Amino acid sequence: MKDLILGIETSCDETGIALVGKDGIIAQALHSQIALHQQWGGVVPELASRDHLKRLLPMIDAMLKEHNIDQQRIAAIAYTGGPGLIGALLVGACVGAALATAWGIPAIPIHHLEGHLLVPMLDDPALTFPFVALLVSGGHSQIVEAKALGQYRILGQSIDDAVGEAFDKTAKTMGLAYPGGPMIEKLALDGDEDRFELPRPMLHEDLQMSFSGLKTAVVRHWQGCSQSEQDKKDLAASFQKAAFDVLVHKCKKALASFDKPSLVLCGGVAANQALSSRMQALMIKLGGKLHVPNRALCTDNGVMIAFAGYLRWQEGLDPEAVAAENIFVSPRKSIEESQLY
Ligand code: KG4
Ligand code: ZN
Repeated sequence: MKDLILGIETSCDETGIALVGKDGIIAQALHSQIALHQQWGGVVPELASRDHLKRLLPMIDAMLKEHNIDQQRIAAIAYTGGPGLIGALLVGACVGAALATAWGIPAIPIHHLEGHLLVPMLDDPALTFPFVALLVSGGHSQIVEAKALGQYRILGQSIDDAVGEAFDKTAKTMGLAYPGGPMIEKLALDGDEDRFELPRPMLHEDLQMSFSGLKTAVVRHWQGCSQSEQDKKDLAASFQKAAFDVLVHKCKKALASFDKPSLVLCGGVAANQALSSRMQALMIKLGGKLHVPNRALCTDNGVMIAFAGYLRWQEGLDPEAVAAENIFVSPRKSIEESQLY
């Protein structure tokens, strides 16, 4: 019986694979390239592509063997078609399409942000459409209305840096390793969040956001202080508070017109406990419900791509559109055009 979807995620610096079926996650594996890129202070696209290429097939082979899964059970392959680094995306797409051709099954290109957006549905039956999502990653900060599978509308977004990017740049300014998010979160726990006065950009404009001015203000404060360990903690805490004040305020605004709203918090920055606590408090106030994926499923992974592929496969696919020889890679497409095939 063909009942499983193999997911492949290679949009940036994680090689993620997973098998998802009606009982949820059957198997998964993840290789992070953080160590590879850390010495350069950020992701080097060419190194990322080469590493995905080196690892992908052996990882898939090992996962199938380890879980004793017969390849005959795989009904389709879902791969990240975009957005992301073009070379990295092409590796996942070509490996996925080649395997799908060899196995005589469809290959479904998945929008990376749709993967982030839908993954909380995997183990949370209470979460159904419609809902609003705050999608905060290294490349995107968006408030999205999800009406149904494939029907997404951007209500607001950052006009410059993404929140994750601001975390990474703040960390870099203070001499911390890439990626900065987890380090800033840790430092902030022991910091004074009111010590440094930082801007809350575009707070009073509709649902658009901006984080580049906040990043510049962080640099200015860092250069103007003694750069001690306590300064680091206080600046991390003050930065985090400023960024989250903006996110909470914008979500509150976005949800004002929804009755008993459901808010999905997703993307890498959703792994931040301080952010999820603040969003939880907001949702209690609004009489709605917050849904956050498990911490490990907030950052990039193969499960989210397999699950989005599973939902699309379950809904029924046009065999011609998802024929394995059609390879779809689109590095910049918006979530509003989430159907890449
Ligand atoms: O979704 P993701 O894994 O990759 C993209 O699609 O961009 O998000 C990565 C981003 C990075 O900027 C990273 O610093 C941030 O998520 N991040 C965090 C935390 N964990 C990861 N930001 C704040 N707090 C965290 N705990
Ligand atoms: Zn992502």
